[in-house]
Amino acid sequence: MIILAIETSCDDTSVAIVKIENSKFQILSNLVSSQINIHKKWGGVVPNLASRAHAKNLPIVFKSALKESGLNIESIDAIALTIGPGLSPSLLIGVSFGRAIAYRYNKSIIPINHVEGHLYSNFLSEDGVVKKIEFPVMNLIVSGGHTSLYLMKGHGKYELIGKTRDDAAGEAFDKAAKMMNLGYPGGPIISALAESYETTANSHKLTLPRPMINSKDFDFSFSGLKTAVFYSLKELSEKQKITKNIKIAYCHETQEAIIDVLIAKTISAAKKYNVETIAVSGGVSANNRLRERFEKSAKENNFQLTIPPKHMSTDNALMVAIAGHYNWLAENKATWDNIDINPNLKLH
Ligand code: KG4
Ligand code: ZN
Repeated sequence: MIILAIETSCDDTSVAIVKIENSKFQILSNLVSSQINIHKKWGGVVPNLASRAHAKNLPIVFKSALKESGLNIESIDAIALTIGPGLSPSLLIGVSFGRAIAYRYNKSIIPINHVEGHLYSNFLSEDGVVKKIEFPVMNLIVSGGHTSLYLMKGHGKYELIGKTRDDAAGEAFDKAAKMMNLGYPGGPIISALAESYETTANSHKLTLPRPMINSKDFDFSFSGLKTAVFYSLKELSEKQKITKNIKIAYCHETQEAIIDVLIAKTISAAKKYNVETIAVSGGVSANNRLRERFEKSAKENNFQLTIPPKHMSTDNALMVAIAGHYNWLAENKATWDNIDINPNLKLH
């Protein structure tokens, strides 16, 4: 079958076209149009600007994806659409566009949960081969909107083990970067500066908290870390100028604090639920240091680890197409006249 997937839940406009035959995926197209240049001057995603940009870009991205696939629209069997969670004005553009195509060309729709999309980004290697992942899997989803642990017992079978009580880890990266006027999105910027901490001598020492690292549950909390960065920088700025070197030290320590908590919780959840495999996904899983440290910890604790290639860590429609395939097999289908967005959609 051929799946067209559309993802517009936040600030990336993405379209993918995938052919699936005998459980083999052929990725015909996976295009992402980023809106970073629009939002960076505001220091974060502005929902109305995001939806305007989706409305402008989605038809263009769609047309390019179709061209790249070499197919015509009639040969598509189903349209996988991210219906939530996400920003309403953004979700509406992708879902309305998908509905219009479904109506005009009489196609089925596969409604997809964005978080489930991230989860499925781990099921396919870059060349389209389905990874052999044994269930149950402990999934850490770590992005700008989510930081959750899901025990995945089978396709479409999830148990929420823990989640953030306040900010997501990606949000902590973004807010810490904003406090230091480093730009948006903060994750990749902090990551790059923290890398230079390893290679250049830095005499500035600081310790930030690792919130909830020793709590017995599997919940997270990152707002305290954000506050700690704020007050620590404020206090220091009253005594001295915040130099680039100091900012680099803050980037390093913020990143280490976030990664320490993510690893500690994920490894202990994996032990408690007796899984063999840990899967990490979501935008923050593009972080080099996180990848390196997760690999080391998984090895030390005898877990298999899977993390998607970087371009599949951040938002993309390919992950929506993969989730779409498994939902199609589970008969989770809809039509143009019975589908709606759900900005607060939960994954069960
Ligand atoms: O999954 P995603 O693209 O969108 C959401 O669903 O939220 O994740 C975006 C988040 C942002 O907070 C961004 O700062 C973070 O992922 N991110 C990173 C890196 N690349 C993106 N965080 C840390 N290191 C990175 N390299
Ligand atoms: Zn996402």
